[in-house]
Amino acid sequence: MKGQNNQYPLNSVSKFFNAQFHFVRFLAYILILGFGITIGVIFSFYLKECNFSLQFTQLSLSSFPRTPTLPTPTTKPEISNQTQIQTQVQTQTEIQTQTQTEIQQTESSHVGLKDFLQPPHVVHDMDDEELLWRASMTAKIPDYPFDRVPKVAFMFLTRGPVFLAPLWEKFFQGNEGLYSIYVHSNPSYNGSRPESPVFEGRRIPSKEVEWGNVNMIEAERRLLANALLDIQNQRFVLLSESCIPLFNFSTIYTYLINSTQNNVMAFDDPSSVGRGRYSIQMLPDISINQWRKGSQWFEMDRELALEVVSDRKYFPVFQEYCKGSCYADEHYLPTYVSIKFWEGNSNRSLTWVDWSKGGPHPAKFLRSEITVQFLESLRNQKCKYNGDSINVCFLFARKFAPSTVSKLTKIAPMVMHF
Ligand SMILES: *[C@@H]1O[C@H](CO)[C@@H](O)[C@H](O)[C@H]1NC(C)=O
Ligand SMILES: *[C@@H]1O[C@H](CO)[C@@H](O)[C@H](O)[C@H]1NC(C)=O
Ligand SMILES: *[C@@H]1O[C@H](CO)[C@@H](O)[C@H](O)[C@H]1NC(C)=O
Ligand SMILES: *[C@@H]1O[C@H](CO)[C@@H](O)[C@H](O)[C@H]1NC(C)=O
Ligand SMILES: *[C@@H]1O[C@H](CO)[C@@H](O)[C@H](O)[C@H]1NC(C)=O
Repeated sequence: MKGQNNQYPLNSVSKFFNAQFHFVRFLAYILILGFGITIGVIFSFYLKECNFSLQFTQLSLSSFPRTPTLPTPTTKPEISNQTQIQTQVQTQTEIQTQTQTEIQQTESSHVGLKDFLQPPHVVHDMDDEELLWRASMTAKIPDYPFDRVPKVAFMFLTRGPVFLAPLWEKFFQGNEGLYSIYVHSNPSYNGSRPESPVFEGRRIPSKEVEWGNVNMIEAERRLLANALLDIQNQRFVLLSESCIPLFNFSTIYTYLINSTQNNVMAFDDPSSVGRGRYSIQMLPDISINQWRKGSQWFEMDRELALEVVSDRKYFPVFQEYCKGSCYADEHYLPTYVSIKFWEGNSNRSLTWVDWSKGGPHPAKFLRSEITVQFLESLRNQKCKYNGDSINVCFLFARKFAPSTVSKLTKIAPMVMHF
């Protein structure tokens, strides 16, 4: 009994230990199971990551030659065949990227800024909506963090060739970097012969333009938008193929760059060819008192050019209600600028034209009419400039026939100093 009695505690001890042993074993199983699961999870994660990093390596390998500091794909034999195939597909774009990168590298090390400032090619495939949207962008910080040499954008709105190109060629000579040229000609003119070196490759994607039609303004906005893509362009002049410069480049450049005003002709004409072209349907956006007339040959600064390409209120009114004998090109800019930006406007054009002979078109000058005296008379007129009266009024003149070109280029050095 005693022994039995003694066995009791022993038994209960061993039972106790037995139970504890089971419990520990159970715990061990749980731990092992947990460990196993953890390892499994980690392993699967590792595999995924491995896969991902593999893909990542492939990706970075294939995009390898795009990085300017790294060698070209031809000098990288360790790239696998698969990657080579991928690289071959990209080669075409890469050749362009590489040459661009090389140009940028020689220019400056400001990666990210230089390529942003690079104006896109004059020939692009943006449609009007895309082009205007892109051109409407502007920096919120007004100061440029680099040396910006302001340029004058000469925008030629033509039917066919710029037939006075030899004269303009002499005018631009030696002033590279201070001007940009843009040409909008009717798509029916295929321009197979290049007019002259300065006009080569400067034709923007153009659309049909009819005299007096609202699509004339669309063309003007297209020219402005293309010119705005070059961040260096500061002043914007609209010209035609029959326009000539009356002064040399340095005089015109200084006049425009230092000008504090825009030059959009605008006046109130109460007659039938003025207010008579207004439509009551333009209310409430445009009232008869706001209606203005003026020559389409404008000159403006970058700020106003940005406003013109971004106008989504007044231009649609003209598209809708200024058709046919309304002649939108004589009213849209004068009216729009007079409503919103009259403060900075001189209300006059810098392009001289002769209306004295009457009729729907101004006088056209022929070879026999070109004399030193005639050109001198156009150069010497009194006008206001930045608030002062000076002896320069018009910088450009029209309309000159193609036959005048040889005589003009001959007397240009004498009269115009170029
Ligand atoms: C891989 O490329 C090398 C060298 O370009 C070539 O000799 C080899 O045949 C290629 N292998 C395959 C499988 O295409
Ligand atoms: C240019 O247009 C004319 C007629 O408009 C046509 O005869 C000529 O073949 C065209 N030239 C080219 C290079 O397309
Ligand atoms: C440009 O013309 C002006 C006179 O209008 C003259 O004083 C100046 O020297 C000319 N500039 C050049 C670079 O020929
Ligand atoms: C603008 O005028 C100032 C002096 O009035 C002159 O120093 C400066 O060179 C002119 N700018 C240009 C581009 O000629
Ligand atoms: C231009 O015309 C507007 C009216 O449309 C007038 O308020 C402004 O004073 C004129 N500016 C100049 C310089 O004559």
